[in-house]
Amino acid sequence: MENTEYKNLIQEADTIEKLHKVKAQLNAFLGQKMQELAAKNIEEKKIEGRKLNELKNEITKLIKEKEDQFSQIHTKRIDYTLPLPFPKSGKKHIFTESVELLNKIFKNMGFQEVVGPDIEKIHYNFDVLNMPADHPARDNNDTFYMNDEELLRTQVTAIQVKVLESMKMPTLRAYSIGQVYRNDKNDATHSCMFNQIEGIILEPGVTMQHLKGFIEYMLENFFEKKVKISFKPSFFPFTEPSCEVFAYAKSHNDKLEFCEDGEPLEIGGCGIIHPSILERCNKKNEQAFAFGMGLERLIMLKYGIKNLQILYKNHIQEMEYYKQRK
Ligand code: DAH
Repeated sequence: MENTEYKNLIQEADTIEKLHKVKAQLNAFLGQKMQELAAKNIEEKKIEGRKLNELKNEITKLIKEKEDQFSQIHTKRIDYTLPLPFPKSGKKHIFTESVELLNKIFKNMGFQEVVGPDIEKIHYNFDVLNMPADHPARDNNDTFYMNDEELLRTQVTAIQVKVLESMKMPTLRAYSIGQVYRNDKNDATHSCMFNQIEGIILEPGVTMQHLKGFIEYMLENFFEKKVKISFKPSFFPFTEPSCEVFAYAKSHNDKLEFCEDGEPLEIGGCGIIHPSILERCNKKNEQAFAFGMGLERLIMLKYGIKNLQILYKNHIQEMEYYKQRK
């Protein structure tokens, strides 16, 4: 074997497997040379033996260097201070996934989607919902006004009368998911912008029992587990009677888990749409139901997120961590 020949062989081995093959080949070559040497006389053994030893040391050294190169590739440390490589396929935000799931659930229940504007008329956000000029929610401290007639809507319930006014069919199942705005400081449980889910049903013969069934079905499909709920009498100006909706949950592994014997947890409001509102929409003799929930609240419960602000940060790794916790 020429001097350069073994060097080329080692150099050209571009995988650890190829290098192992070259190593075996060179060992066989050296073994054969040793045998040949054994047949020689003392003088030749002295001279050629030294040369063979040098060659063997050189080959061993080159192979070791190359093996080290390969092992460095595999044990290369990750520098956590560098930005993450951008994920090839992209990832959906927990928020997007949740809205997509809710869209599916509502559509399965025969609900049509309704979208309302973020800048809403004060008329639809307050007046028609029995929240007169002196209602505390209309205070500047709680509401962002654009001008004398418009505001950043404070509740998705603002779509309610519009939907009832524009109803073309005798029955209605509609829902809306959208942003609402409150003049609040951002912290772990508050945000000046958050999202609400609103549902409306107008159908002959529908009762509070059905309303409870709709909410139960929605929650069961959203949380992918059975959720026991109960209604507690309450007050909202736009429904009569009104109820708060409670789900039962217990803390488990630093996360609330729904269970029959858990503590009651308020997750939304509902009720029969107030007769004065139905009359305003020419639906005097009809019966309609509405329910509303905070979307972030549901998402935080599902994924065990304790700080609301996490949902607004768009941190991919954090999102992926919480996705596993559902
Ligand atoms: N709009 C209410 C809020 O922002 C939530 C709500 C309660 C909606 C009762 C409803 C309802 O439709 O019936 O707190």
